[in-house]
Amino acid sequence: MKRIFLLLLPTILTFQAFAQTDANMGIIPVPVSIKKNNGTFQLDKSVALISNETANAKTADLLNAFIVTKGGFALRETKAVTNTQKAIVLTSVGADKLPAEGYTIQITTNQIKVIGSGAGLFYAVQSLMQLMPEKKDDKITIQTAEINDYPRFKYRGMHLDVSRHFFPISFIKKYIDILAMYKLNTFHWHLTDDQGWRIEIKKYPKLTTVGGKRNGTIVGNYPGTGGTDNTEHGGVYTQEEVKQIIVYAASKYINVIPEIEMPGHASAAIAAYPELSAFPDRDTWIGEKAPWTGDRKGKQVQQTWGVFDDVFVPTDNTFKFLENVLDEVIALFPSKYIHIGGDECPKEYWKQSPFCQQFIKDNNLKDEHGLQSYFIQRIEKHVNAKGRSIIGWDEILEGGLAPNATVMSWRGEAGGIEAAKQNHDVIMTPGSAGLYFDHKASASADEPLTISGLGSGFSNFQKVYNYDPIPKVLTTDQQKYIIGVQGNVWTEYMETPAKVEYMIFPKILSLAEIAWSPIARKDVKNFMEERVPLHLAKLDKSNTNYWVPVPIGQPEKVVNGENFTIELKAPIIGAKIFYTLDNYRPSENATAYTTPIKINVPQGQKKILKTIVITPSGKRSVVSETTFNNGAPEVKAK
Ligand code: ACM
Repeated sequence: MKRIFLLLLPTILTFQAFAQTDANMGIIPVPVSIKKNNGTFQLDKSVALISNETANAKTADLLNAFIVTKGGFALRETKAVTNTQKAIVLTSVGADKLPAEGYTIQITTNQIKVIGSGAGLFYAVQSLMQLMPEKKDDKITIQTAEINDYPRFKYRGMHLDVSRHFFPISFIKKYIDILAMYKLNTFHWHLTDDQGWRIEIKKYPKLTTVGGKRNGTIVGNYPGTGGTDNTEHGGVYTQEEVKQIIVYAASKYINVIPEIEMPGHASAAIAAYPELSAFPDRDTWIGEKAPWTGDRKGKQVQQTWGVFDDVFVPTDNTFKFLENVLDEVIALFPSKYIHIGGDECPKEYWKQSPFCQQFIKDNNLKDEHGLQSYFIQRIEKHVNAKGRSIIGWDEILEGGLAPNATVMSWRGEAGGIEAAKQNHDVIMTPGSAGLYFDHKASASADEPLTISGLGSGFSNFQKVYNYDPIPKVLTTDQQKYIIGVQGNVWTEYMETPAKVEYMIFPKILSLAEIAWSPIARKDVKNFMEERVPLHLAKLDKSNTNYWVPVPIGQPEKVVNGENFTIELKAPIIGAKIFYTLDNYRPSENATAYTTPIKINVPQGQKKILKTIVITPSGKRSVVSETTFNNGAPEVKAK
């Protein structure tokens, strides 16, 4: 008896050291269900990998490559094993009974059986990779469990604006990798805007030779508080590169939706082909306060941000141009959806233009909003005739919705609600819910330059996590029109991939969870305190940048009272918290947090706790402050 006990002991200890204490096994987005069992599967080099369907070969390779990196060994690939042999089995047999994109994983002590097909199997492997802890003694110890999973929404998107700043193909691929890791399935590629046209169109070479670059960019917030950088900004994706990206994304089950903006946000196209404007001979408007580099005459690609009056004129020539552009785009992108913009189209030039006014009369349109609706509907007909559907920003509701359009609701939820009531599909992406990832995460002065005048507030991972894309006001039938949710990344103030990464992480983790996981599985505490710290710790070891959250448990802003015990937890596994109570800015030279902080505030006084989080790779959070006040008079700002 004694002997057996001694033999068992090391196993029990190993189990305790490696067992997943998190009920959700560290997976983001949290699966529909996880049932943990007793025992572990020991992944070592004796384990076989079985994947007999040719269609699954790439996903099997992905898993094996991951195990090489994680465990230092590759799994032997074989055709079959007995039930008692240790193996990971990937199969599509039985996947036809699963919901779309769904999968199951059964982990027993001697086998891991993964069922799924296509995207489902790919997502199963993403989950499996996420739940593997670090190796110990050349073994990866995996908790036995049964996982059943499928998405809440069929559209799970991330957008990237490559007009305001251009990003190289290498980063576009990395961006796609990030989306795939978190089971996001749509990349919305914002390819054209006032500050640059980024996609090669063979019929109109000037779109890229002229519209693909600008002479300078404002420095600091709009309209350019720091002057201009006097530097040319350009960049174009050739059609060959676009094809490469589409194939790359498809290999990760991501659909790429191109956006070609119309009728507004057209300055770059008009700079290339001035006849697309209602006033071809009018110089591009440059604000009095806007710093500028180079020529101010003629049509120019914009160097500052905002919304500009020079929009597409609705002539036959313009429609032919747009149809030709869309034909090349449709030939490149297999996506069912083509995004045609439709947002922020000022009506000023149409009001001033005798041609536009006559056009409104001739076509029995009510006004310029009617013209906008006419414009979108005419383009929709062309896109539909090619077997595709349009998506537009919620302004396409104004003047009447195009019959088959999907609406992207960005100015709050109102547009999405209205579209759903009209039985149109909707993608929710309201800035007010934090889905404008270009907005800063907090009010701290330590935050970097971001878009100013945050009409819809901050965007941080807590806010995004709290959002439910289905508005309560919709009936059960109307709710079905909400096909998904998306995060938007406008890059006016993101010049580098590192800044984009900083702005999207960890918000993208929250997005993934609200897009994929059932609402009943929402668990703020588990997400914030268990899974995000684990994922950010992994990210910290990679070459990906991210926003470092402030300590878990730090009270908001001001609390009143005399005695406090403040218990903090690092928001990233392995990160350290440093703090001061003397009003100095904390750094690694301040007090390291190890035990709860006891704070006593004498009557009539206050104390300020300032914290900073420093990660193993040296990344820093903003300084977070809490004022503990025991009746001190408020100091009024002058
Ligand atoms: C937008 O942010 N103009 C869609």
